[in-house]
Amino acid sequence: MTRHCPSPTVALLLSLWIWVAPVWAQQQLPDRKSEQDNAAKAVSLLSFVAVDYPEAVEGDVIRDRKLYRQQQNNVDVAGALLQQLPDKPGRAQLQDSLRELTQLIADRAAPDLVRRRANTAADRLAALYQLPRSPAESLPSSDEARVLYRDRCSQCHGVQGDAAQPERRLDDPVRMANLSLYDFYNVLEPTRNDAHDAAIDSDLSSRQRWALAVMVAGFSAPEIAPAPRLAEKYPALVGLPGMAILRPAELPEEARNSLMWWRAHPVETRHLQHPLARAAGLLYLAQTAYRGGDIASAYHQLMLGLRDGYLESRPQLAERNPALAAQLDEQWRDLRGAILDQAPTNEVIEKFQRLLSNVVRAREQLQPSSGSGIYGWGALLFIAALCLGALLWYRLRR
Ligand code: HEC
Repeated sequence: MTRHCPSPTVALLLSLWIWVAPVWAQQQLPDRKSEQDNAAKAVSLLSFVAVDYPEAVEGDVIRDRKLYRQQQNNVDVAGALLQQLPDKPGRAQLQDSLRELTQLIADRAAPDLVRRRANTAADRLAALYQLPRSPAESLPSSDEARVLYRDRCSQCHGVQGDAAQPERRLDDPVRMANLSLYDFYNVLEPTRNDAHDAAIDSDLSSRQRWALAVMVAGFSAPEIAPAPRLAEKYPALVGLPGMAILRPAELPEEARNSLMWWRAHPVETRHLQHPLARAAGLLYLAQTAYRGGDIASAYHQLMLGLRDGYLESRPQLAERNPALAAQLDEQWRDLRGAILDQAPTNEVIEKFQRLLSNVVRAREQLQPSSGSGIYGWGALLFIAALCLGALLWYRLRR
């Protein structure tokens, strides 16, 4: 794939309005912060039901009573947290799903069924409360976490995640495939997970947590990098948010193994992502932040998508389809203006949607994708649909 730099004139014109950053009067409200913490905690509890239940129950026999009780308790606590979150369309259905999940566990239902239901409930909850589950900036290399891991983690989890006690191992590919990078990240957030004492991880920065998550992913990753053609086949897995949010176990086998490697090597994987795919991913994140009321992050992510994604591909696009390039320039400008002017929410969301679908169109024009199905290029649209709200998303999931 060829990359061009934006021509000097275009770069100048566009940078004029990128870099004139606004001064934000609105900051994220404290209520919003605790709302997100509660939602994230519930998501984490449900994800761990999905992972731990199969270890607690086999056939319909309880193998590990303590672990089994813990799963019941996790669902109860997740339900109580949901009860405290603001009511919205979709919450009542989600509460029903949690009640069903409680019943399934009481009936010692098949592990696969419980796993799927718990993960689906976790995803619905995250979508309903617009939880940002992916960083906007590229994921750091595990090298950034090496010293930290050695000093703070290895005594319990082993140098390579190969602890002597089975419940502390971090290198079992079957278990780790059930967890997303975001799940690893959440384990290291004391407000969301109580696996560790505060002394272990409460002072870590967000970037350090992501670097540790990437490092942990490395313990169960295959040794050999996937063939580059697989990155074309599964473009949503070589960039954010897919790489952070998706659980490998839910993907077809070749995609699963590839994601296990890619998510452990984000820096080496970065060049596999098309800049327009990066732009689309960042637009998705910006829209999530915007809908969640975090306008400052939304703005930042929108600009990042423009600068690190769209502008890299623009010269090529302008050659292929100048009308589309001109339309896209206009749409980025327009959306930015609407956010700055605090235009009505539905107008801004509509502009997000139109821009996103044109970015996807541009991507198709530059390089028709060989991928198909919801894990291919369409995955970005699928993920974008999450932003439209729970209703559409429920329909897509079924
Ligand atoms: C004092 C021992 C101890 C230290 C130090 C420690 N952990 Fe843990 N960690 C645990 C235990 C025990 C669990 C399992 C908790 C549970 O099942 O509730 C766990 C769970 C985890 C999990 C979830 C794994 C799974 O399969 O469910 C991850 C990921 C993790 N730790 C990463 C880390 C990282 C990264 C560090 C360093 C910042 C760290 N831990 C430091 C004891 C420790």
